[in-house]
Amino acid sequence: MTKSLNAIAQKLMSPGQGILAADESEGTIAKRFAKINLPNSLDLRRDYREMLFRSTEAMTKYISGVILTEETLEQSAADGTTFRAILADADCIPGIKVDRGAFPMPGDSGEKITEGLDGLRQRLVRYAELGAGFAKWRAVITINDVAPTRNNIRANAHALARYAILCQEAGIVPIVEPEVVGDGDPGNHSLERSAQVTGEVLENVFKELRLAGVDLSGMLLKPNMVLPGVNSRDRPGVEEVARRTVDVLKQHVPAAVPGIAFLSGGQTDEEATAHLSAMNQIAYKPWPLTFSYGRALQNVALRTWAGRRENFPAAQAAFTHRAHMNSLAALGEWSN
Ligand code: 13P
Repeated sequence: MTKSLNAIAQKLMSPGQGILAADESEGTIAKRFAKINLPNSLDLRRDYREMLFRSTEAMTKYISGVILTEETLEQSAADGTTFRAILADADCIPGIKVDRGAFPMPGDSGEKITEGLDGLRQRLVRYAELGAGFAKWRAVITINDVAPTRNNIRANAHALARYAILCQEAGIVPIVEPEVVGDGDPGNHSLERSAQVTGEVLENVFKELRLAGVDLSGMLLKPNMVLPGVNSRDRPGVEEVARRTVDVLKQHVPAAVPGIAFLSGGQTDEEATAHLSAMNQIAYKPWPLTFSYGRALQNVALRTWAGRRENFPAAQAAFTHRAHMNSLAALGEWSN
C-alpha cells in the first residue's frame, strides 16, 4: 500500500510535468464563466473541460495528473467518451477535489474553516473505484489585523490531517493544500509576514499529519509561494520570492515528502512560471518542485474558447503554451 502511494506521488512529480487543477466548484466556475459572459450550464462546463483534456500534446507531455470535481470524474465528452478514458489515453492520473469548501469560522476574525469530513471515508471508497489516484483538500488561511489565529490554524491543520489519513486508508494520495491567501488587508500582508505565517502554518500542518499517522512519503504538499498580499506595496523581485519560499519550505517541510506542487492564486500567468523556474534553479532542495496550477494554466485558454467548440484548436494552443512554459519552469529552464 505504502509503496503504491509513493509510486503515484512520484509519477505526479515526473520531471518536467505538473498537475492541472480543473476542480473549480460550481460557484467558482460560474464566476469564471460570468467574466466572459457565459451562463454556467452543464454543457458548457463539459465542453470547457473537454477542450482542456483533449489538448493531446499538453496532456501527454506536460501534465501528469488532473484534479477533477465529482461531476467531471463521472462525465463524458460530447461524443460519449468518458473523461477518464481521455485522461488514461494521455497517461494522466485522475484526481478529485474532496473538500466541500471553506466556510466562515465561528467568531469575528474573518477566517475560514474547510468542511467536508462527514461521510468522507465512504466517498473516498467510491472515488477509488472510479480510478482516482489522488485527492485534494484546500484550507484557507487569512491574514488581517487579528488573523491568523492559533485556533484557526489548528482547526484547519487538524482537518487536513483527518482528510489525509482517510485518503491513504483508501489507497489515494492526499494533496495537502494549506493556502495563505493574499487578498487580505494590504497593511498587514508584507513579504515578511507571508513568510512568517506560511512557516507557522506548515509547522502546524506537519505536526497534525504526524499525530494522525500520515505516511509522509505517500502525500504531496500544495502550498502558496511566499508573496506579499496582492494589494501590498511590497513588490519583491522574482529571485527574492523564490529564495524566501524555498527557505521557508526547507525549515518546515520534511524531506520524506515526495514533492511540492504550488498553486498559482494571486499571480499573473507569467509570474507563476517565473517564480517556479527561479525556485528550481536554487540548489540543495530535498524535494522536486512543480506546478498544480488552475488559473495560471487556464486564463488565456478560457478567454480564447469563449464558449465555442469551433475555438477548441486556438484555446488548446493557448493552454499547451502555458503548460509547456510551466514544464520548462519545473525543470528550472524557463526564461522570458
Ligand atoms: P490556482 O492555481 O488558480 O490558485 O488554483 C489551484 C487550486 O487548486 C486551488 O485550490
